[in-house]
Amino acid sequence: MVQINEVKDSNSAQSTRTAAHTHIKGLGLDEHGHANPIDSGFVGQTEAREGAGVIVDLIKAKKMSGKAILLAGGPATGKTAIALAISQELGPKVPFVPIVGSELYSVEVKKTEALMENFRRSIGLRIKETKEVYEGEVTELTPEEAENPLGGYGKTISHVIVGLKSAKGTKTLRLDPSIYESIQKEKVTVGDVIYIESNTGSVKRVGRSDAYATEFDLEAEEYVPLPKGDVHKKKEIVQDITLHDLDVANAKPQGGQDVLSMMGQLMKPRKTEITEKLRTEVNKVVQKYIDQGIAELIPGVLFIDEVNMLDIEIFTYLNRALEASIAPIVVLASNRGLTTVRGTEDIVSPHGIPADLLDRLLIIRTLPYSVDEIKVIIEKRSRVEKLAITAEALSLLAQQGSETSLRYALQLLTPAGVLCRALGRNEVTVEDIEESRDLFLDAKRSTAVLEQAKGYL
Ligand SMILES: Nc1ncnc2c1ncn2[C@@H]1O[C@H](COP(=O)(O)OP(=O)(O)OP(=O)(O)O)[C@@H](O)[C@H]1O
Ligand SMILES: [Mg+2]
Repeated sequence: MVQINEVKDSNSAQSTRTAAHTHIKGLGLDEHGHANPIDSGFVGQTEAREGAGVIVDLIKAKKMSGKAILLAGGPATGKTAIALAISQELGPKVPFVPIVGSELYSVEVKKTEALMENFRRSIGLRIKETKEVYEGEVTELTPEEAENPLGGYGKTISHVIVGLKSAKGTKTLRLDPSIYESIQKEKVTVGDVIYIESNTGSVKRVGRSDAYATEFDLEAEEYVPLPKGDVHKKKEIVQDITLHDLDVANAKPQGGQDVLSMMGQLMKPRKTEITEKLRTEVNKVVQKYIDQGIAELIPGVLFIDEVNMLDIEIFTYLNRALEASIAPIVVLASNRGLTTVRGTEDIVSPHGIPADLLDRLLIIRTLPYSVDEIKVIIEKRSRVEKLAITAEALSLLAQQGSETSLRYALQLLTPAGVLCRALGRNEVTVEDIEESRDLFLDAKRSTAVLEQAKGYL
């Protein structure tokens, strides 16, 4: 039995994409929604942050679904950072799906299909079910070995003995080897609090028991109290999944009627198998669960960066998808001014977005930074990258940033750090910045080089 939390998508690109924003911890607003000039890793850009804060409130109040927002502003003015901060403010249970416009185009999957899939990834469903479970702190975990019934020299596991302790008592269970596998997958050890669903046998690790908390432990471990009540009991289980998870689970049904066991069968997603018809079916079931009060819909955020990469066909589809009864909030970002809409010959439009979609957007503008703001951002970033930097070097870098772009300045920081360490120093100086600037061209200088040396490429 595969557990829902095992299902990780192949979207590892999403985590690497956020690496440049590790210093951002949220929007940095006070309780009245005002942006503090420097807060949560953010510097300046207060109006845009406040606007984003309003959107977070609307999303939490569930008043935003089907709406779309555009973050518009020059390169490196913090659009992607704001979008990530929105997701941080929403908390981990609200789906946040960041994609880049060009990601929708691939040879394998139709672009509208790819968009739909991401739409459904961004819509969460919280399911509450009362289940019969065995829950407690693991006091014993012993696999019982037996001779391999098929002969040969190896031994197999015939049973596993699990001792569980709760506030009211203890129980020793003799379980099937298949359950032992899921125990191993959850990396359960003695002293953990787990529960085992009695009819599906799936195992979930809740955390480490309080009794094992020591002063040496870091925060990586979640400590939970000894479960109340009996070991064998009925328990309300809350699971957060997305509509896309359900689509995938149902594209390969393997028996089991209740939602949770349906989800237990999730396999590695294969994109081509989900049909429109299947989605309609899933929607019906979801609607039924919502009506019965078992499930609750949690519209999340679909963030489409570099929206000018989308073409007219996708835009038309997007417009329609936003009208659907179940839709996430769509946040777009663009650093383009007036450009031709992709897929058309001559329709020129702001951000390359057709007029009918533009019309529905709430637009948040991001403005260029002052030298002082750039300085503070670079300083924050240097702390994250654990680089000491002299005041003069910082000023030079900030100056550089205001002349070219903030991103260029931030990018110079890392090689400057490497250069300085190579020379056995541990503080980045003006020379390091200058050397790194000579080694790595910014866009303007690189263009100038190309123009001078026509014909060398
Ligand atoms: N106000 C800010 N405070 C702190 N860091 C910032 C701020 N604005 C941007 N940054 C940082 O500067 C870098 C560039 O910003 P970001 O990637 O968000 O720009 P962008 O507007 O999305 O640019 P592009 O249009 O090129 O995609 C990131 O590392 C980001 O975390
Ligand atoms: Mg960006």
